[in-house]
Amino acid sequence: MTLPKQQILDWLTEQRPRRLDELWALADQTRREHVGDAVHLRGLIEFSNICQRNCLYCGLRTGNAKLSRYRLTEDEIMDCVGQAVAFNYGTVVLQSGEDPGIDLDWLCALVRRIKSETDMAVTLSVGEWEDDALQHMRDAGADRYLLRFETSNAKLFDRIHPPAPGQPKRDRMEILRTLRRLGFEVGSGVMIGIPGQTWSDLADDLLAFAELDLDMIGVGPYIPHPDTPLGKYLEHYMASEDLQVPATELMTYKVLALTRLLCPDTNIPATTALATLNTKSGRELGLQRGANIIMPNLSPTEHRGAYEIYPDKACIKDSAGQCLLCVTGRVAMIGRSVGKGRGDSPNAQQRRDADSAIESIGGDS
Ligand code: 5AD
Ligand code: SF4
Ligand code: FES
Repeated sequence: MTLPKQQILDWLTEQRPRRLDELWALADQTRREHVGDAVHLRGLIEFSNICQRNCLYCGLRTGNAKLSRYRLTEDEIMDCVGQAVAFNYGTVVLQSGEDPGIDLDWLCALVRRIKSETDMAVTLSVGEWEDDALQHMRDAGADRYLLRFETSNAKLFDRIHPPAPGQPKRDRMEILRTLRRLGFEVGSGVMIGIPGQTWSDLADDLLAFAELDLDMIGVGPYIPHPDTPLGKYLEHYMASEDLQVPATELMTYKVLALTRLLCPDTNIPATTALATLNTKSGRELGLQRGANIIMPNLSPTEHRGAYEIYPDKACIKDSAGQCLLCVTGRVAMIGRSVGKGRGDSPNAQQRRDADSAIESIGGDS
C-alpha cells in the first residue's frame, strides 16, 4: 500500500482510541494476508559488546568506560548455535558492536561452519564494513544482513552517530543498496523518539522503508541510557516540544502498524526494546499490530548484562531455554503458531522469483 506523507502524519499523531483500533485491525489483517499467522523465531547471539564508535545514544559506545567488555570465542558461539539447533530455530543472528578485533577471516570461517553444520539461515548484524568485506561474508554463506539507518534525517544521524575515529563518513543508505546488490536479504530500521526527531522525520523514515524495498524492518523506542550524552543531557538535544516525537510504547505500535501497511511482505520483529517498555505484553501487542518475528536471546546468561545498549533490557537474567519457553508461550497465548523453517521474507522470495524469470528469458539487459 502507498500512503501519502500527510496521511502517515495524521496516523502518527492520531489519539482517538477508536481510530487507533482501526489502524491495529488493518495492520493485523494485512500481516495475516501477506505473511500468515506463523511467528518466526530468530536466535540472537550477541557475540561482542566491543565497539569502536561513539554513538550518542548507545550504551556500547567506546566512551562508556563503565561497561565491561567481552567477545565470545568460536566455541562459545558454537555452543549457542547448538542450542538454536536443539530449539529448532530457523535462523541465528550474529550481532556485535563495531568491534575492530573481529577478524574478517575468522568471521567468515564461523559463518561457513554454521552453514555447513546446520540448516539455519545466518543473519549478520555487525555494523559498517567495506564493500569487499561484505562480499566475503556473503561468499561465506551469510544469508541476511541487518543495518539500521536509525533516522532518515541525515543531519540528525550525523549528530548522534559520529564516524569511527580516523575513518571517513559512510552513507548507510548506500551500504544498504550494496548489501542488496550482493544478494543479502536486507534489514534495516529506526529508533522512535530519538531526541531531535520530528514527526516529519519519522514519516520520512516510513517512506524510506518502502522505497528501500527492505526484507526486514526493526523499529523500537529510543530508551535513554544514563551513561551516554543523549541520555544525560536529553533537554539539550530535544526538538521543540510540539515537534519532538515521544519515545513511547504507543508510538512504537503506530510505527509498527504503518510499516506493515507500507511494506506488507516484509518480516517485522516485535523488538526487545518494545518488550523492555512493556514487559507484560509488549511483544504480544506488537505481534497483533503488524509484527511477525521474535528474536529470543541465545547469548550466554553471564554476558547478557554487559550487552547493555540501553538500561533494563528485557531477558537480562534469563537463559536461552527460558527465552524459548517464554516466547513460545506468548505466541500460543495469542492464538498464533511458531513458524517452521528459515522464514525467509516473502518480499525476498518474490525478488528471487522475478530475477530467475528475467534470467530464463535471456539476461537482464
Ligand atoms: N535505545 C533504543 N535502541 C537503541 N539502539 C542503540 N541504542 C539504543 C537506545 N538507547 C538500537 C539501535 C541500534 C541497535 C543495535 O540498537 O537502533 O541499531
Ligand atoms: Fe556501536 Fe552500534 Fe552502539 Fe553505535 S549503535 S555505539 S555502532 S553498537
Ligand atoms: Fe527472554 Fe521472555 S523472551 S525471558
